[in-house]
Amino acid sequence: MSTIDSVLTETRVFEPRADFVAQANISGMAGYRALCDEAERDFTGFWARLARENLQWSRPFTRVLDETNPPFYKWFDDGELNVSYNCLDVHLANGNADKTAIIFESDDGSTTRVSYRELLARVCRFANGIKALGYKTGDRAIIYLPMSIEAVVAMQACARLGITHSVVFGGFSAKSLQERIVDVGASLVITADEQMRGGKRIPLKPAVEEAFAMGGCEAVRKVIVYRRTGGDVAWNDGRDVWMHDVERGQPELCEPVQVNAEHPLFVLYTSGSTGKPKGVQHSSAGYLLWALLTVKWTFDLKPDDIYWCTADVGWITGHTYITYGPLAAGATQVVFEGVPTYPDAGRFWELIQKHKVNLFYTAPTAIRSLVKAAEASPPHHPRNYDLSSLRVLGTVGEPINPEAWIWYYNQVGGGRCPVVDTWWQTETGGHMITPLPGVTGLKPGSCTLPLPGIMAAIVDEAGGDVELGKGGFLVIKRPWPSMIRTIWGDPERFKKSYYPEDLGGRYYLAGDGANRDADGYFWIMGRIDDVLNVSGHRLGTMEVESALVAHPLVAEAAVVGRPDDLTGEAVVAFVVLKRARPEGEEGARIARELRDWVAKEIGPIAKPKDIRFGDNLPKTRSGKIMRRLLRVVAKGEEITQDVSTLENPAILEQLGKSL
Ligand code: PRX
Repeated sequence: MSTIDSVLTETRVFEPRADFVAQANISGMAGYRALCDEAERDFTGFWARLARENLQWSRPFTRVLDETNPPFYKWFDDGELNVSYNCLDVHLANGNADKTAIIFESDDGSTTRVSYRELLARVCRFANGIKALGYKTGDRAIIYLPMSIEAVVAMQACARLGITHSVVFGGFSAKSLQERIVDVGASLVITADEQMRGGKRIPLKPAVEEAFAMGGCEAVRKVIVYRRTGGDVAWNDGRDVWMHDVERGQPELCEPVQVNAEHPLFVLYTSGSTGKPKGVQHSSAGYLLWALLTVKWTFDLKPDDIYWCTADVGWITGHTYITYGPLAAGATQVVFEGVPTYPDAGRFWELIQKHKVNLFYTAPTAIRSLVKAAEASPPHHPRNYDLSSLRVLGTVGEPINPEAWIWYYNQVGGGRCPVVDTWWQTETGGHMITPLPGVTGLKPGSCTLPLPGIMAAIVDEAGGDVELGKGGFLVIKRPWPSMIRTIWGDPERFKKSYYPEDLGGRYYLAGDGANRDADGYFWIMGRIDDVLNVSGHRLGTMEVESALVAHPLVAEAAVVGRPDDLTGEAVVAFVVLKRARPEGEEGARIARELRDWVAKEIGPIAKPKDIRFGDNLPKTRSGKIMRRLLRVVAKGEEITQDVSTLENPAILEQLGKSL
């Protein structure tokens, strides 16, 4: 059964336990309603209060929200602060200098701990080193690093100097890296020799060399290399410098550069409905405020908690819920280099047991694969580990099917821990719609209710509210502090993508379809645009299509998603070659070649699971590819729709055949 079908038949409700409610940061429905009411009554006053109470400002703001040029909203825009100061220095001032900030667990199981004092010292030394290389506020740095303390140090050091970072996930290809270097106009690249994943060394620096060879990266003056494995790498003497040499001899104090609240802390690329990824630009103050508050609210973080988010810093989840939110909140967190299945499928459970993790945040895809692994290998079932430290479980990135939710709740959480199913996006900066563990009755598969101050709604094509129970477009009716500010270098695209005229240009359009039940709970139905969600990773169908047609053999390609038990959605590509349609062995060989090609163009996550060759694609007489039909063909279902407008209906049968 697909996730959507099983979600729609779900009726169970799990109320929070009284003892949890009693100790919660936001306690009970009354506590939640009080905050929502405050935001309704005095929207800007609500946000101003939170920003004053939770952040340290070097120059206090007097303006809260500037709405004079919608949708280019500004928050706290006459205030100044430094993000890294708010993540590190503040904890030294409040007596937590020796508290562990990061417990780093490497791929091979060795552990390194750094306290807030040590982390600040490292960030300062590295920031001083970058400064000595001539970098300053306003410059852009690409960070292409594995999960490591160094990745956090690099991001925080940029924040300390007001250098805007753009992290590129280590699994992305040289081509994707080059495109981002060019688009963001980077003058600095921070990378590693290699990364370790699942016992294997995976090169990183060579991808940087390849990216440079593609041209357009001439603005990059220095490449800083973290020596992770000591593997052999090509070296360009004038340009390349080791991270430890950059830090060497630098003082452990680096004055934070106070930046405007709206200063771009980072640009993170994500897929949209065109072939070109969008550089989502985030602010400093508004972003940090929400990162900090949502860590405290959604996970009910307490001073002694051990928190672990399994995301990679290459994604927004790693930015907000590893590098910024937990540090701003003064948490102790696990940072994990490896993969959930190495050395065996019990790795996550073993780590929770070893570090006595209290708050655990992961993706439905990981849960689904671990359900399978636990069935296949009973010794690695979570019941064989001591998981009694767990208090709150979270999920993110894609809808979770109720079966996986129930397994997570019972087998991992022992039927004791609330599961917070957090709906949000790269663009929203932080959680938007999510249960609160001491407030919300949980319904498996629903992200439940919007956080206080988040004016989420479901509307029709004209922007009118739909009744409860009716599906529609998920929108956010008012700006919020951690929202996307623009698409880097393309404000028009920002406006068109997120504030379309059809909705009056007033509402933020998330790009998800959603439903609300009789209790007002939100149920996310998936993307309404040409964006796929594969293992919680966002992929544009056009992006994969452009990669395919760049191959010399390919004349035309159409890409759609198909529901998949493990990855949520899988990529299915329909391809027309410049030569005759291949069959049998030859077809299989070309399909393999195209898969590898896509991995090289974008990254392995974009590889089509299924490639079908046709003499043609189903098109209307006006030449439009009928993706609606391709989606049905990809699922292997009978076509019941009217195909009379098709130029060449016979093609559907040909495309229906797997190789
Ligand atoms: O479709 C929604 C899905 O992931 C999209 C955002 O992807 P990305 O920007 O990569 O951010 C992922 C991490 C925040 C959304 O438009 N999505 C995210 N969280 C959920 C979800 N779908 C259902 N339930 C969720 N909890």
